[in-house]
Amino acid sequence: MNRNLLIILALFATVFAAWPLLAFAGDPLAGAENCRACHPAQYEAWKTGPHGRAKDTLPPEQRKDSRCIGCHSPSQRDGVEQVQCEHCHGNGRYYTKDFIMRDKMLAEAVGLKARDFTTCLQCHQGDTSSIMPFDAKTAWTRLPHSRTGGK
Ligand code: HEC
Ligand code: HEC
Ligand code: HEC
Ligand code: HEC
Repeated sequence: MNRNLLIILALFATVFAAWPLLAFAGDPLAGAENCRACHPAQYEAWKTGPHGRAKDTLPPEQRKDSRCIGCHSPSQRDGVEQVQCEHCHGNGRYYTKDFIMRDKMLAEAVGLKARDFTTCLQCHQGDTSSIMPFDAKTAWTRLPHSRTGGK
């Protein structure tokens, strides 16, 4: 094989290997509106549940307060408000294309977290308003979204 071609292939392989890592480099989120057409039931459940309204429950003067929005609307600087799909499912910049979404391994390789209950702890571990310690799988059953999967 031609030596230049080998070098090009090696470079391509390196870039491709680094691609999933780039997905976590703080890119703006795709946003729930981007998921809506393909996942209408999950969108409705989100919109009517606590996460789709998490910014709106803050008193108006605290909707820009960095002490609050870190959990109630972490990506609003990028124009997407509330607790987003992608705060639980991973940044969708690369996985939301139909051909990628249909290939579960590929989708996960470029950032999809399909069922990861550890992501909840980013925001929920400090809960003090309840006497019960936060248990992600129990809490999940309180969300409308827990009834969208049929399993
Ligand atoms: C172009 C259509 C499309 C868009 C846009 C889209 N998805 Fe998907 N998604 C799919 C398809 C198709 C599947 C595979 C469904 C299946 O296999 O039953 C899927 C599967 C999933 C799954 C489940 C994977 C599993 O293992 O069960 C999750 C979670 C998901 N998508 C989240 C999202 C999120 C979050 C967004 C927006 C950031 C999004 N999707 C945008 C089409 C889409
Ligand atoms: C570490 C993450 C985190 C931070 C920071 C945070 N919150 Fe929350 N907040 C939560 C979670 C999780 C809940 C829901 C669970 C609960 O009620 O204990 C919640 C619930 C609430 C509720 C109740 C909402 C309802 O529907 O009853 C209010 C009001 C609220 N927070 C206001 C604030 C304000 C104001 C700030 C900033 C001073 C703030 N939060 C900062 C995570 C956080
Ligand atoms: C980016 C931060 C964030 C993440 C990640 C997150 N939550 Fe929340 N969650 C919140 C906030 C903020 C509220 C309060 C919303 C409001 O203002 O009513 C909340 C409210 C809730 C509530 C309603 C209050 C209650 O305790 O009944 C449940 C249930 C819940 N979350 C479960 C989960 C589960 C399960 C996960 C993971 C699969 C998760 N959350 C991931 C921030 C988050
Ligand atoms: C609070 C975290 C959280 C948010 C916000 C969230 N999801 Fe999920 N989602 C999950 C978890 C956890 C599962 C896996 C549940 C299981 O396997 O029991 C899931 C499952 C799914 C599935 C698989 C099928 C199903 O319904 O169970 C799809 C598709 C999906 N979510 C899309 C979305 C979309 C689109 C949004 C936003 C409109 C969204 N999710 C918002 C945590 C979240």
